[in-house]
Formats: sequence, structure tokens, C-alpha cells
Amino acid sequence: MQIILDKLTKKFGTTTVVDEISLEIESGEFVAFLGPSGCGKTTTLLMTAGIYKPDGGRILFGNDDVTRLQPKDRNIGMVFQSYALYPHMTVFENIAFSMKLKKASKKEMEIEAARVAELLGIGHLLKRKPGELSGGQQQRVALGRALIKKPELLLFDEPLSNLDARLRITMRSEIKRLQKELGITCIYVTHDQIEAMTMADRVAVMKDGELQAFKPPLDLHDRPETLFIGQFVGNPPMNLLDSTIKKDGGAASVTLPDGSLTPLADKLVPNVSKDRIILGIRPEDVVLDNTARTSAEVLLVEPLGRDDLLQCRWGGQDFVILVDPKEKIRPGDTVKFRFLSDAWQLFDPESEKSLIWN
Ligand SMILES: Nc1ncnc2c1ncn2[C@@H]1O[C@H](COP(=O)(O)OP(=O)(O)OP(=O)(O)O)[C@@H](O)[C@H]1O
Ligand SMILES: [Mg+2]
Repeated sequence: MQIILDKLTKKFGTTTVVDEISLEIESGEFVAFLGPSGCGKTTTLLMTAGIYKPDGGRILFGNDDVTRLQPKDRNIGMVFQSYALYPHMTVFENIAFSMKLKKASKKEMEIEAARVAELLGIGHLLKRKPGELSGGQQQRVALGRALIKKPELLLFDEPLSNLDARLRITMRSEIKRLQKELGITCIYVTHDQIEAMTMADRVAVMKDGELQAFKPPLDLHDRPETLFIGQFVGNPPMNLLDSTIKKDGGAASVTLPDGSLTPLADKLVPNVSKDRIILGIRPEDVVLDNTARTSAEVLLVEPLGRDDLLQCRWGGQDFVILVDPKEKIRPGDTVKFRFLSDAWQLFDPESEKSLIWN
């Protein structure tokens, strides 16, 4: 089912926490709402569910305007961070609860609960109580309870935050697989950019109640439209350097922190007459090279396992480089480096918009 949010707005008192958000979600699409704490993700989700009443805008499910419909009339399934299972009921009773409310027969409930439990790999747990389950199993029951309604839209709000890191990765791919198998349209709220990037077909990035971008994960990473997206997407975050741009006819150069000038690739030359800019360079685009002329002082070495992350000082500015731990770099060392690609980003320091992508 296609979902359209049209200038959706929510205020609490005089504060606007969701500001005219417009999105068109395709049928069967997996969309992540990504953004820092307090940016309005949950509020937008709860309006979509019908739990919060919007102060402005419309919500369409297919051709139907559902803005004023009750949650129960929207044919949606919801899974939240707190699983909110009924502790005194068995897994079977928890999963079949919505059918019981609709006065389905015992036989029907058994068939449907067994089908859903099988899908989720918890068929053998139907007689247990939630207290006798692991976190991951409880999460599956919560998902089962949403799926048994055969919803046309699944809404998730940080559903994996209570799980340990390994289980999060397993559940991540399982939710994605199920969603594709069942073809259910899905909105998934998270502040974890890795979750959003790995699971979603498209990511809606939110900041301060506003939509910053709505794009496929790789596009977000490679073509950040704003400084905020550039910083928020990608791990470790992009290096941001104060720089100036010098144009000479068609060619353009930027200053690096050590004062040197380096030419910009043609595709990067922005079509504006800016002087001061912010230069964005991702840590993975930097490699050590003893023959290079650019160098920085290493302040701190953080071992990440596969890489060491070097916190450096480059001509008075902070700069992060990822290196092979075999290099055995120590704080106080000076490292020479060059750039692997010209996938640099240029931002306007005032508007914080990209000077390359818009
Ligand atoms: N019932 C409420 N009354 C007043 N303000 C609220 C209410 N619910 C949320 N807010 C405010 O609205 C803003 C958006 O909240 P929301 O819960 O949507 O954020 P979020 O993006 O889901 O954040 P998080 O990642 O922390 O869950 C916040 O500033 C929050 O304090
Ligand atoms: Mg939230």
C-alpha cells in the first residue's frame, strides 16, 4: 500500500516538533526515519498510526485519506522498543490477542498463530510465557503480534535497541527478509545510521522536525545535500575542514589546513561565487603514503579492531584517518597521507547546504 504524508505537522503547545513533512512511500517499500534524538521521528510515526492527531497536513493510505481514522481502522501493525507483551499470557495468547478481540474461533487462532510463529522461528515456544523468553524471542513475539493482523503497513520504533549487538544484526536481516517476503510497506524509526543504511530502500533524514532528504542509502552517503547529512551518515563521520575556494577561469582550487592549494576535480567545481567553504573528506578516502607532502600530527589512536582510528591535528584543524593496525602508529607520530579519491564534499558554511549536490 502506498503511503503519502502531505505537509504533516505536529505542535506541542507552541513548539512545532514536526514541520510540514511530505513523503511518498511506495507500496512494498522499506523506509527508515533517521535522525538524532528529539527530531520528531516517533511523533511522525504516531501520527501515521493515528495515535497522535496532526495539527496540519494529511495522511493518505493508497487513495484513502486516513487523517481522521482511529488506529484500529488503519490496518497497521506496530512494533515498539518496549515489546509490551502481556506477561500473564502465553506466546500463543499474545500473538492471537487481536484475533480474540475480533472474536475469531479457537481453531482459526491456532492456525494463524502457528503460521506466524513458524514464519518467525518461534513455533516451539507457543506455550511459554514472555518471562521465559530471551530478548530476541520476545522481539519475535512482538513482531508476530503485529503480523497476525495481516497489516498493509508495518510501523517500527527502535525495535532492536534492547538487544545485544549480535542479535541486533541477526534481527536486522530477519526483519528485512520478512518484509520483502510479505511485501508489506514498512516505516522503521531509528537513530542508528547503520540500521537505516542496511535495512532501508530509502532513508528519510530528519532534523529539528524537518525533512532533510529522502533518498536511497548510497545516495545519502555519496551525495549529501546538507552538512548535517554528511556528518550524520557514514562511520566514522566525515572530516569537516574550514577552507577557501579560489577560482581562476573554469579551474578552481581549495586551500588545505596546512595552507597549500589543491585543484578541485572538474565535477566538484561549484557554480557559485563562494570564498569560504567547508570541505568534507571521509576518513576512508585518506591513506598513509610516505612519499606524500601532506602530513598531520597524531594526537590519539583508537583501536577499532579492523582499523586504527587516528585523531590528528592537521594545520590547526581536527582530522581523522583510518589506518591498518599493522602500521603501529603512536600518539605523537607525524603521518604523511594522500587522498584515495576525489569524492570530496563542499558545503556553504552559512546555509550548510552542499555546493555540489542539490
Ligand atoms: N507528548 C509530548 N508533549 C510535549 N512534547 C513532546 C511530546 N512528545 C514529544 N515531545 C517533544 O517533541 C520532540 C520530538 O519528539 P519525538 O519523540 O518525536 O523524537 P524522536 O525523534 O522520536 O527522538 P528519540 O530518538 O529520542 O526517540 C521532542 O523535542 C520531544 O521533547
Ligand atoms: Mg523516538
